[in-house]
Amino acid sequence: MTALPFPFPVVTWDDQEIVLMDQTLLPEQLVWRRCGDINSLCLAICELAVRGAPAIGVAAGFGLALSWRLAMSHETDTQAMMVRFLADRQQLAETRPTAVNLFWALDRVGAVAEQLLADGSSADHIATALLIEAQAVLDEDVAMCRAMGMHGQELLPDFSTVLTHCNAGGLATGGYGTAVGVIFAAKESGKTISVFADETRPLLQGARLTAWELHNQGIEVTVLCDSAAATLLQQGKIDAVITGADRIAANGDAANKIGTYPLAVMAHRHDVPFYVAAPRSTFDGASSSGKDIAIELRDPVEVHEFHGGRATPDGVNAWNPAFDVTPNDLITAIITEEGVVRPPYSENLAKVWGGK
Ligand code: MRU
Repeated sequence: MTALPFPFPVVTWDDQEIVLMDQTLLPEQLVWRRCGDINSLCLAICELAVRGAPAIGVAAGFGLALSWRLAMSHETDTQAMMVRFLADRQQLAETRPTAVNLFWALDRVGAVAEQLLADGSSADHIATALLIEAQAVLDEDVAMCRAMGMHGQELLPDFSTVLTHCNAGGLATGGYGTAVGVIFAAKESGKTISVFADETRPLLQGARLTAWELHNQGIEVTVLCDSAAATLLQQGKIDAVITGADRIAANGDAANKIGTYPLAVMAHRHDVPFYVAAPRSTFDGASSSGKDIAIELRDPVEVHEFHGGRATPDGVNAWNPAFDVTPNDLITAIITEEGVVRPPYSENLAKVWGGK
C-alpha cells in the first residue's frame, strides 16, 4: 500500500498545471495526471479521473486560475482575456450536470475575475487573485469536511458499523471526505468503526476507492455487492448508513450516486438511521425539491462492460443514470459543517446555509 499524506493531495497546483490523483487507475496504480489546458481538465472530469462533487468543484476553481493564465499568454488586453476565460468557464460547466459544487466554484472564482476586471485591475493581479481564491476553495473544503466529521462522529456509538455507498471520502473532496470523513473523525476521536462499502456499480467507486482509502488509513472495511445491502441491514449488522451528496435541494431532497435511494428505503424499513454528510457548497437553494435536480445520464457502455470486457449481449440496451434522489423524509439527519441538521429541512437548512 502506497503511503500518502492525509488529507489526500487529490487536486493540487504545481508549476502552472493542475495535478490530479487519477481515480480511474486506483487502486492498482497511483498516477498523477497533469492538466495544462482546459480541454485536458474537462476530459479528466468527464472520465472521472477527478470525481466526487467537492473535488470537481476544487478542480474547476483551479481550472479558472489556469484559464486566466493561458488567456494571458494569448492576449494583451484584459477584455480579450475575459472572453477566453468565459468560454473556458462555460466548457467546464458543461462537464457534469449534477454536482452543484462545480457551479458553485465556477461562480465563486469567476466572480473574483469579473469584479477585478470591473475595478480595472491588471492581468497579473487577476491571475494572482484567482489562484488565491482557488486555493481557498480547496482549503475551506478540507476545513468544512473536518468540522462535518467532528459533528457527525458524535452520532456514532463507540463501537459501530457503518454502511456507505460510492466514494464520499478524501478522494471525492479536497482530501478529507464527507461521509467517510465522519468515519475518519470517529477514529480520531478514539472510536472503533468498521465499514461496509457498497461496490457501486457500474464504475466501482466503493470497491476501488472507498475500500482503498479506508484500508490506507487503517480502518477495517468490507466490500459488498450493492444488491447485498438489504440483507446486511435485515441482519441488523449496521448501526448507521452515511452517504455523501452531489446536490441538496432547499427541502432536503438529496441527489447522490445511483443506488443511494434504495439504501435509504431499506434503512427506513429496518429502522437504521440514514445520514447524509455534505458541506454548504453542495446546497442548491435554487432547487426547491429533488425534481429540479438534473440527473446525469452516462454512456451505456459503462453498464455493458465489466472489468474491461463486454458483459451484455450485442444488441441490448443499457440505462445508466449516474445519480438518484433520496426524498427528505427518508433522511434522518444532514451532517453539515455547521452541525447536525434535522427535519424540517426547508426551515433548518435555510438557517445554516440560507445565506449562501
Ligand atoms: O460519479 P461520481 O463518482 O462523481 O459520484 C460521486 C458521488 O456520488 C459522491 O457520493 C458525492 O459526490 C459526494 S462526494 C463527497
